[in-house]
Amino acid sequence: MPQSKITNSRKVIWPGSTQLAPVPAVLVACGNSGGHKANLITIAWAGIVCSKPPMLSISVRPERFSYPILRECGEFSVNLPTAQMAATVDWCGVVSGRDHDKFAESGLTAVPGKQISAPIVAECPLSMECKVTQILELGAHHLFLAEILAVQVSEELLDASGRLNLERDNLLAYVHGHYYNLGECIGHFGFSVRKKPGPVKRTPRKR
Ligand SMILES: Cc1cc2nc3c(=O)[nH]c(=O)nc-3n(C[C@H](O)[C@H](O)[C@H](O)COP(=O)(O)O)c2cc1C
Repeated sequence: MPQSKITNSRKVIWPGSTQLAPVPAVLVACGNSGGHKANLITIAWAGIVCSKPPMLSISVRPERFSYPILRECGEFSVNLPTAQMAATVDWCGVVSGRDHDKFAESGLTAVPGKQISAPIVAECPLSMECKVTQILELGAHHLFLAEILAVQVSEELLDASGRLNLERDNLLAYVHGHYYNLGECIGHFGFSVRKKPGPVKRTPRKR
């Protein structure tokens, strides 16, 4: 096994808190059915939870304008923003659909979903169309478990063999209140056990 150059560090003990990082900061689009207009909410507490069926979760506070929309429509899209979209992502996470038409005011384009009524965000390189299967009322946040019914991905991110090169698109990451771009690729799945190890260089695209 390769030896990493990591040294032990002294630790202080805190009470349990939500310190997981980095996490994504995604644009969740909802509404566009059941009398609800389309809305956007920025979500950092999102994650893949199952590969077969493909599923993800988002955690949403009930006081959000988006909460009853998500609950009643039972559908939403998860849109991956690029680092260049950080200010727009932040804005969608500090103003409410109660007071703002976030699609109109941000300049983001709502494109119809293929499998859901909720729109996707055209400017995002990848969008997942999701159908809610379960809502877990955990506490401050309620967890929406959802099946990913379809994925819309920018054609320009596919290589000749159809492989997705999402790394090129300089995705946005979020760490304890701060936005980051992903930086350089330093390895790939399984590279620690390959005979000739070495990172596959992937360079972010300028957008
Ligand atoms: C980076 C970032 C991440 C956020 N993550 C979450 C989250 O995971 N869950 C949540 O309920 N609110 C989250 N928020 C807050 C909502 O996005 C914010 O309250 C938003 O204004 C709600 O919009 P709405 O009232 O139109 O639904 C986040 C905000 C930011 C800026």
